Amino acid sequence: MVPPRRRRALVAALAVAALSAGGLAAVPTAGAVPTIPLGTSVWWACMQPDSPGPVPLRCPKAFDQRYPDALARAGDPYSVLVAENEMKMRWLQPDENRFDFAVADRLVGYAQAHGMHVRGHVLVFPSDLPLWMSRKDWTRASLLAALKFHIFTVMRHFKDKFPGVIREWDVVNEPLDDNGELSRNLLTRVIGADYVEQMLRFAREADPDALLFINEYNADQPNRRSGALVTMARDFVQRGVPLNGIGMQMHLGMAGPVPSSAERVSMMDRYADLGLRVAITELDIGLLPPYGAASADQQQAGFQQIAQDCADLPACTGMTVWGVGDALSWRGLVAAPLLLDGQYRPKAGLAPVLAILAAAPARAPVRPGGGESLLSPVPVIGAPAAVAAATVRQRGLRVTAMCAGTPPCAVDFTLTVGGARLATRSVPVTGPGHATRLRLSAAGARTLRRLRGARTARLRARIAPGPWVARPVRLTVGTKK
Ligand code: XIL
Repeated sequence: MVPPRRRRALVAALAVAALSAGGLAAVPTAGAVPTIPLGTSVWWACMQPDSPGPVPLRCPKAFDQRYPDALARAGDPYSVLVAENEMKMRWLQPDENRFDFAVADRLVGYAQAHGMHVRGHVLVFPSDLPLWMSRKDWTRASLLAALKFHIFTVMRHFKDKFPGVIREWDVVNEPLDDNGELSRNLLTRVIGADYVEQMLRFAREADPDALLFINEYNADQPNRRSGALVTMARDFVQRGVPLNGIGMQMHLGMAGPVPSSAERVSMMDRYADLGLRVAITELDIGLLPPYGAASADQQQAGFQQIAQDCADLPACTGMTVWGVGDALSWRGLVAAPLLLDGQYRPKAGLAPVLAILAAAPARAPVRPGGGESLLSPVPVIGAPAAVAAATVRQRGLRVTAMCAGTPPCAVDFTLTVGGARLATRSVPVTGPGHATRLRLSAAGARTLRRLRGARTARLRARIAPGPWVARPVRLTVGTKK
């Protein structure tokens, strides 16, 4: 077996090779990764004695050198990191249009330096929104624009600064409730039932290569919530909404009964049968009263069983535990729900779990109809400093443009079909997710009318002044005003 450090280096090298191939091939396929990685969430502030950053992101306990040691020692078990809180919207965008990547960058930079990957957690967490967002009055359009701006800014930031390190994102966290309805929150109230779909579309526009997940809890056994998740995911797959996987949080023994192994597997199968990836994203298994040795044995057996279930399912591409060790678990030392104990000593299940994950057969490519084969149906312009989408309507071009930093900025566009130039415009972008309409020249409109029907044009865009980036655009002519 390749030792973990070497394995990481190998996986990293494969990722870099795949990245330099460009395009969709930039996503290292699961097939290229020999084993299922074991991940853990981290508190970045617990990695060093003096933690900078806002108080809620400070290490919840006194600094303990064993915490960074557990992550850095040779042969440590984890090869994927997840920010426990540091990449949530309230910390990345603490005030409207003000982003603070300082802490998250350290975390991702650490992962990069150690040949690890990071799971992006989380772009939109409707029950954990920043105060400024919960307090403001929104229209559907303005809230969509603000969320799009957040998604674009965050995904682009990490992709540009740490290429290849974050391959998958939880796009929407916990959209459903116990009754299998969309949870009531600002997003459902102001945007409506299609908000999950909209977020996925924005994320795909922002990064055509990322694997996009809906992450949900208590969706690991048959119940109304998981039933609704299957229905939602099936609908998305059928309609080409860009969804690559389901994140099963698996905080077991916390809310609701612990699912039996058969129940868990049946749910993993149902998500996989849609052609989606399945990732175990936040696994912890709380000890149950009277918290004795029997419960501890059961817990460690549970970890092994779940690792085995994942190994047995080709679509299962990751297993992440929610915490390095019990000492800092969000569920507390009594639940002691992790693979390392309060002293960062490995528990009995750790070695078997690693062996199971290491011996798992190579992951099969995700089936067509789901997974990586889903490309954004929305045309996208990507430039180092600008992103924009456009649909061509009867008399003009509707463009959504964004500044990479704080608005305002200006975006230049040219639209050509064959040799014919249909529009050349410079558009001032005054707010996040600014939408505008470019009127075509008379000659451009005539050309466009002749082209009625689906065509592909080239839309070039740049943040002025800056390099031009061109992308093909699907023309939808004459369907809407
Ligand atoms: C938790 C963190 O672990 C805590 O530190 C924080 O106080 C609350 O959030 N589901 C999720 C995670 O998706 O983001 C949550 O993390 C745990 C439940």
